[in-house]
Amino acid sequence: MKRIFLYLLSLLVTGSGTFAQTPDQEFTNMNSFISELMAKMTTEEKIGQLNLLTQEGGVPTGEAVSADVEDKIKAGNVGGIFGVSGPQLVRKAQESAVNQSRLGIPLLIGSDVIHGYKTTFPIPLGLSASWDMELIQRVAAVAAVEATADGIFWNFSPMADISYDPRWGRVAEGAGEDPYLASEVTRAMVQGYQGTSLSDPRTMMATVKHFALYGAAEGGRDYNTVDMSRNRMFNVYFPPFKAAVDAGVGSVMSSFNDVEGIPATGNKWLLTDVLRERWGFGGFVVSDYTSVNEMVDHGMGDLQQVSAMALNAGLDMDMVGEGFLTTLPRSLEEGLVTEEQIDMACRRVLEAKYKLGLFDDPFRYTDEARPEKDILTAEHRSIAREVAAQTFVLLKNENQVLPLGKTGTIALVGPLANDKNNMLGTWAPTGDPQLSVPILEGIRKLQGSQVNVQYAKGANISDDPEFAEKVNVFGPRIEIDERSPEEMLEEAVSLAQKADVVIAVVGEATEMSGESGSMSGLSLLEPQKKLIRRLKQTGKPLVLVLMAGRPMTIVEEMELADALLLTWHPGVEAGNAIADVLFGEYNPSGKITMTFPRNVGQIPIYYAHRTTGRPNEGDVFQKFRSNYLDVPNSPLLPFGYGLSYTTFSYSNIKINKREFSAGGTLEAGVTVTNTGKHDGQEVVQMYIQDMVASITRPVKELKGFQKIFLKAGESKVVNFTITEEDLKFYNYYLEHLAEPGEFKIFIGTNSRDVKEARFTFR
Ligand code: NOJ
Repeated sequence: MKRIFLYLLSLLVTGSGTFAQTPDQEFTNMNSFISELMAKMTTEEKIGQLNLLTQEGGVPTGEAVSADVEDKIKAGNVGGIFGVSGPQLVRKAQESAVNQSRLGIPLLIGSDVIHGYKTTFPIPLGLSASWDMELIQRVAAVAAVEATADGIFWNFSPMADISYDPRWGRVAEGAGEDPYLASEVTRAMVQGYQGTSLSDPRTMMATVKHFALYGAAEGGRDYNTVDMSRNRMFNVYFPPFKAAVDAGVGSVMSSFNDVEGIPATGNKWLLTDVLRERWGFGGFVVSDYTSVNEMVDHGMGDLQQVSAMALNAGLDMDMVGEGFLTTLPRSLEEGLVTEEQIDMACRRVLEAKYKLGLFDDPFRYTDEARPEKDILTAEHRSIAREVAAQTFVLLKNENQVLPLGKTGTIALVGPLANDKNNMLGTWAPTGDPQLSVPILEGIRKLQGSQVNVQYAKGANISDDPEFAEKVNVFGPRIEIDERSPEEMLEEAVSLAQKADVVIAVVGEATEMSGESGSMSGLSLLEPQKKLIRRLKQTGKPLVLVLMAGRPMTIVEEMELADALLLTWHPGVEAGNAIADVLFGEYNPSGKITMTFPRNVGQIPIYYAHRTTGRPNEGDVFQKFRSNYLDVPNSPLLPFGYGLSYTTFSYSNIKINKREFSAGGTLEAGVTVTNTGKHDGQEVVQMYIQDMVASITRPVKELKGFQKIFLKAGESKVVNFTITEEDLKFYNYYLEHLAEPGEFKIFIGTNSRDVKEARFTFR
């Protein structure tokens, strides 16, 4: 009976795209298929579709772990699972659903594929520093090919959370502080994952997360409460989510925090009024890991009440917590939820399955020949190497210490110089740290025998075993050497004394950022600071390679280093990519996408701040102005900052008119010249300031950028076209419009060093 039913239904399925259908026809076919299927479903089976469980092998990011998963699948109580991978295991799980549940509805198979699957790319914050959307889209597309080869076709990425607070560890997973750039990045990732058709077995469905405001947790403490004006939500925190919706993202994940006092997972204004009604989102909303249940701790009621609240708010799928599964039947009887609401959520989940082609062939992602062909290929690794180099940011390069010459003796020191365990970065559970290339190996391979490389660890990341234990939850990240700190230091210093140049690789272990990786201090830990001071005393040129998952406070290191290269956590090709850049095979072009503060007290710090009635001018203390007694207002490094082995000069801005009006455009351009000796890439950035408006506006907002390549000595004109759209913002009434008046336009190499012009919008 089941087989005949599914066969008849399958005749209606046209989602595989084998013959052309108009979007309207496809939509009608999908609707009738799902209506027929739902007509056969019991209420329990419908609720079953709203339940997402994790199978052993997943990363438990909370206290709950799913039990009896297989039995629940067979009973029709599960809509999807995560934590299972590999064609065989996925096939087995899918068989339980397709062959052993009453209606044979296939499962969604999800995972966190955050920056590459097995070929691990740099952390997302690093990817954003490339300012290269084609590259980012390619990274996502490679991740999709590898993940789908291993049976996974629903991804819990991209993370679109803006943050002004580098204490929050999850800044590593996002695209930084700027809504314009983060929107571009989020769109590129969605397009990379989903391709042009979800039914292509080499693409996967994306989930934009965490909706919303998760990056604004008070004090940068993960999962903490948030309080924010709607104005800031619409102008700063929402745009990357809207960009994902506009790009057709399949699902949205709700966040843990509260929004205006109501947890996001149960917030109807957020999940229905904004997401569905205002933005027209047509996919489904999944909770974060037990975030439905956590509303009990938020003080919203018992499990039954909070589950009903979540469904009422517009949540469609419950991750791990089983509140929907266990309480919605009762809530239906008691009138807390309606049959229509359950139907609607169920329909949305089934629509995703339909679009993925699962009703056509539930085993389409279980081809056993694919992993070998598609995962960790030489081509993917070479892309990872190239991508990593593009994400590195040169923060300082005094006397052109870099790139290094190809002869002489190098002292390579530091706790991360010969390390495999920290190269992949946070949230890389599908990657294998042992496959990563350490820096020592990368340099030796690139330079062969011409360069004499001597290695010493020099210091531990931290000497504190209690701290190390907290960081080492997913394996050894901080390994405390058996030798005494002094002995390690001495060894490194004596190598340095005999070398021509010293490279010290320092920074954070991967799990010092990421989920539940908040830090109240952002300096290098003491053993590493000591090492750097001692190395400096040798008088040898000192190159620091800094690995970090977030902006750090590095005032002292910026002073002591002759050159400083920020590499984030670069992924599986770390050592090769770093060697490429240190020796000039690749000229760095990355620019930071979060402001680097001078100290933690300056946080929150971001370039697009609104002005005050008492602005401080310059970095000089002014009594009765908005500034600090003990530190200037300016950051250590501004948003958009990054050097190159070459230098670029900018002409003044030329604009083609002084004013324009709705429907018109204005052209603003600069001539950028490569004034140095190396060919190189430059990210030319364009900012706008609305001088007078109905609400206070930021002093500067990124509205465009272009990454250009210039040969040594070459010049190029870089033009930006400004339209009404670029001047729009959400006003007090949350209307999106441009207000007539004076504007400033800035073009430059970062958010601080810019040329300036003015125009009027009429
Ligand atoms: C919790 C995290 O907040 C979320 O980003 C992730 O997707 C889920 N756990 C599933 O692993």
